[in-house]
Amino acid sequence: MNKQMIEQTEKWVKSQLETERTGHDWYHIRRVTKQAKEIAAIEGADELIVVLAALLHDLIDDKVVTSIEEGLKNVTGWLISIGTTKEQRDHIIEIITTISFKGGTNQPVSTMEAQVVQDADRLDAIGAIGVARTFIYAGSKGDPMYDPTLSVRENLTIEEYRNGRSSAIGHFYEKLLKLKELMNTQEGKKRAELRHQFLENFLQQFLDEWGEE
Ligand code: ADP
Ligand code: NI
Repeated sequence: MNKQMIEQTEKWVKSQLETERTGHDWYHIRRVTKQAKEIAAIEGADELIVVLAALLHDLIDDKVVTSIEEGLKNVTGWLISIGTTKEQRDHIIEIITTISFKGGTNQPVSTMEAQVVQDADRLDAIGAIGVARTFIYAGSKGDPMYDPTLSVRENLTIEEYRNGRSSAIGHFYEKLLKLKELMNTQEGKKRAELRHQFLENFLQQFLDEWGEE
């Protein structure tokens, strides 16, 4: 039963993301789901909730659908159609609405399952894949890879960020380097170590090659 729910959801999510080009593509979902499932097993979280939430976690992002409301309606309809209980649905919807870093509140997430999915999503934003996603995202927005006139070592304010004063390297300081400290679970923290170190090494090498202004 669980296996069938998961397989059906994989197919549906894949079809929903066919035209997705903002870094929330199917392969991102697949990587996040794989890590979330592994972390869930180690941390003792509910596997069905974690896997479904990981598969669905980007389908309410306004970069993917026209509005969050529309995304929520879609996802809820899907969860009903595969036979989840109301309790399971409420939990999954709660997870995917609260885990986003840009969700505004930035409050720690409440349940173990939400912590696991958030950790898995954050792991995909750091390490080599995280670096690659950042440069592709910046490129798609028309941001430069680096702009030494932006004081990247100081945190940009949200206002500056929204005004587009950003660069790929700037995003390391805005977000990526902070993620290691924000990991929720023991296993998540462990998995973040190497990836974080890679970010630090990459940044050091990049700035060395760039040289003095
Ligand atoms: P997710 O919820 O999957 O982390 P985001 O929408 O926050 O998705 O980001 C998608 C990818 O693009 C992530 O790897 C993220 O680090 C990167 N990204 C987000 N905002 C920026 C930005 N302003 N500049 C460069 N990369 C960004
Ligand atoms: Ni994601």
